[in-house]
Amino acid sequence: MHAYRAALLNFADDGSARYEEDGLLVVGPDAAGRKVIRAAGAYGALAANYPGIAVTHLPGRILAPGFIDLHVHFPQTDVIGSPAEGLLPWLEDYTFPHEARFADHAYAVEMAEVFLDELLRNGVTSALAFCTSHPHSVDALMEASERRGLRMMAGKVLQDRHSPDGVRDDTEQSLLDTEALIRRWHGRSRLGYAITPRFAPSCSEAQLRGAGDLAASHPDVWIQSHVAENKEEIRWARELFPAARSYLSIYQDFGLMRERAIYAHCIHFDDEDRALMRDTGAAAAVSPTSNLFLGSGFFDYEGALRVGFRFGLASDVGGGTSFSPFHTMLAAYYVGREGQTKPGISLGPQHLWWQHTAGAAEALGLSGVIGNLRPGCEADFLVLDPQATPLLARKVRNARNLDELLFSLIVLGDDRVVEQVVVDGVSTSRGGASAA
Ligand code: GUN
Ligand code: ZN
Repeated sequence: MHAYRAALLNFADDGSARYEEDGLLVVGPDAAGRKVIRAAGAYGALAANYPGIAVTHLPGRILAPGFIDLHVHFPQTDVIGSPAEGLLPWLEDYTFPHEARFADHAYAVEMAEVFLDELLRNGVTSALAFCTSHPHSVDALMEASERRGLRMMAGKVLQDRHSPDGVRDDTEQSLLDTEALIRRWHGRSRLGYAITPRFAPSCSEAQLRGAGDLAASHPDVWIQSHVAENKEEIRWARELFPAARSYLSIYQDFGLMRERAIYAHCIHFDDEDRALMRDTGAAAAVSPTSNLFLGSGFFDYEGALRVGFRFGLASDVGGGTSFSPFHTMLAAYYVGREGQTKPGISLGPQHLWWQHTAGAAEALGLSGVIGNLRPGCEADFLVLDPQATPLLARKVRNARNLDELLFSLIVLGDDRVVEQVVVDGVSTSRGGASAA
């Protein structure tokens, strides 16, 4: 067992943050031998329960849950910052040609390491990731994640139509590949598989039906796709599936809406769509930097909260412009605030942070497993340095309460704040790895 003494940030069941100025976090094996949080609370109250335990004292630092990225494309790491008229030209001109390069297995292996380095330097310890349509792109990401002890969920993209040579897959083979990948990776180490139809316009009815059948026979695998991101995309989806009530209901018609189904964007929804999300237990991966960059629109937080479906935050790199959860939380604040096309609301900093940690875990069906620092949670956490930059240090010094402290970090923070990342109980600082 090992303990860390520093300020401590975690989340209550209602999503509000708890902050312990002088906290103690005790990490050790559970009955099954997994590295978990054994205790978290005030140093003064807990320390006497752990006599003789080795304590790493980190004055001035904050221990916080590792961030969770609910939607990210590992093969689009180098697509970041590719401007286009909108989603569909961006896919045609940049994304599909780039993803075609992953036909080369060695390139996929190389990019998996680049991607995981970026996630970790930004404090992201778990993600739900798209790979490419090439099955070995999944092997590359899973092998690299397993070596680093990460809890990672990912899947091979399904796209058997309206896709260029080099990324388009074959209907029957794509489903066989998906099934083989589920068997190879789902539940191994800390890895999970996600059935990944790219979006309805890129999938034939047969492919969507096959994906739905696989989802029914593997109820604990994840499902990930895109929906209602862009007006052109929606028009196209409605044309291709004229019998569906809405773009979202296409997925429902093929058995692709349930718990552990995560839909990126969910911008252009009506209340029936919102109710369908709520009633099926599906969740939205809100991707504000991507939506602002591609001019897609603004996620309607008021609608989501009013109807009551699950959501959490995501980078959506490479539509998204940053791996940093701080940048994503700030962009989510801007998007929530926008009040010309939808009701504008001012999201509180505790709620923004929750959306990228405990809230994202809830969306994934992983509450109590990741995204929080409460007893029983896996030992994925961050050591944050709130003095990392001069301006941040000034703001934090002057903060009068937790909201002011967290908002300072959200507005001014980035990878410089992330001093150490602990994954499965093993710490990686800028200097290298050491066991906790
Ligand atoms: N819709 C279909 N594919 C994609 C993608 O790669 N990125 C985004 N943002 N939307 C999509
Ligand atoms: Zn995406």
